[in-house]
Amino acid sequence: MTNFIHFPTNFQWGAATAAYQIEGGIHADGKSSSIWDVFAHTPGKIYNGDTGDAACDHYRRWKEDVALMKQLGLKAYRFSLSWPRILPEGVGKPNQAGLDFYSRLIDELLAADILPLATLYHWDLPAVMPGGWLNSATTEAFVEYSAIVAKTLGDRVKNWVTINEPFCASILSYKLGMHAPGLQDPAKALVAAHHLLLAHGLAVPVLRENCPGARVGIALNPGPFYTPTRSRADLAAARHADGELNRWFLDPLYGRGYPADMLNDYVSMGFLPSSRPDFIKPNDFDIIATPTDFLGINYYTRNRVMAGEEIDTNPASVVRLSAPEDNQTEMGWEIFPFGLYETLSRIHWEYKPGEILVTENGASYSDGPDSNGNVHDDRRIGYLKDHIAAIGKAIQAGVPVTGYYLWSLMDNFEWSMGYSQRFGIVYIDFDTQMRYPKDSAFWYRQVIQQNGLTEE
Ligand code: FCB
Repeated sequence: MTNFIHFPTNFQWGAATAAYQIEGGIHADGKSSSIWDVFAHTPGKIYNGDTGDAACDHYRRWKEDVALMKQLGLKAYRFSLSWPRILPEGVGKPNQAGLDFYSRLIDELLAADILPLATLYHWDLPAVMPGGWLNSATTEAFVEYSAIVAKTLGDRVKNWVTINEPFCASILSYKLGMHAPGLQDPAKALVAAHHLLLAHGLAVPVLRENCPGARVGIALNPGPFYTPTRSRADLAAARHADGELNRWFLDPLYGRGYPADMLNDYVSMGFLPSSRPDFIKPNDFDIIATPTDFLGINYYTRNRVMAGEEIDTNPASVVRLSAPEDNQTEMGWEIFPFGLYETLSRIHWEYKPGEILVTENGASYSDGPDSNGNVHDDRRIGYLKDHIAAIGKAIQAGVPVTGYYLWSLMDNFEWSMGYSQRFGIVYIDFDTQMRYPKDSAFWYRQVIQQNGLTEE
């Protein structure tokens, strides 16, 4: 039996990208280095020694790229602003050429009837900021940067994401060392996470003041945890892992402060000196919980974990289990669309954001053009179909999802994996910079036109 799933009118059907992943032009027109420029140029950090120096050359090909978006019928586009392009010194005097680049891009989007959703921070912090997110001055600088951007672009951009995935910008970056700046210090990761959340909370009113009609949110990357058994030990592992990825960010954003069980864990492990460390100032939780207009959710997969041997003495003794070989994308991420339904429902019932945008979702498959320039990426279509259907069902169950931003518009620099992972619905030949819309792009255009899809 087939069933057509209708989406709400005015649903934001979009695609997403991020500045460092697509722009290139790393030192064009006065842009300074970001922590990702530095990290990518550090030997051994990125697969194959790749860097974002050229990426998709979007800094020069933006017009052609907007034309492509229009051709593909996109109603919305999520992109990020490069802070060091706009403020090469991190603070102070804006670089007009940098602002002009985004201004032109936005005008072109609006002329093509595509709604812009701008992310202020998708990880490319100006490298000049001393101490990065360990320094509370970076938080203040972010607020200054937000004000400048809202003043200059806010007459045309009304939808803003403050920070993309604070989990990745703190835990992956300061604890696991996989992302810039590449530190491996769990205590510092918690300081960075706090400053990122604070930067978000402080920027919300500043964006609203400087941009009449602004709609502001943050984008998280939550996901469910599954264990092989329901043993006490496995459930303890899931609790800690869920606390680190999900509750550490959701709880303070929705007025609950940091979760007590996680504070206990971190104090017992020596990552926090006490449950009220000095870097948490008296008003911080009020600031972080400043009400927002929507919550952005980036979803790719579920997480499977089990207890490590030391779970009784070390709450972080968590073993991650890999995805079944016959059910994963080329990232090694398990294909689990129900996890998106589950995540949306959990967040809706537990935290009640007024509105949810799926700000990222997509799949890495390396299929390339055949001799006619066609890219048959059926596996991506299958992934997208099932995930969009999961969102449709969540909406039917009452979850207020108002948009979907497919990751990604085009193949791009996939952080520590370099160019080895292709998430785009448009194929990029990185030697020629030729763009080839994949079958999934035409399939998505039809979903947009029909405002829904048929579930098989
Ligand atoms: C997310 C990032 C995005 C992209 C996808 C695959 O964590 O926000 O930039 O790399 O993963």
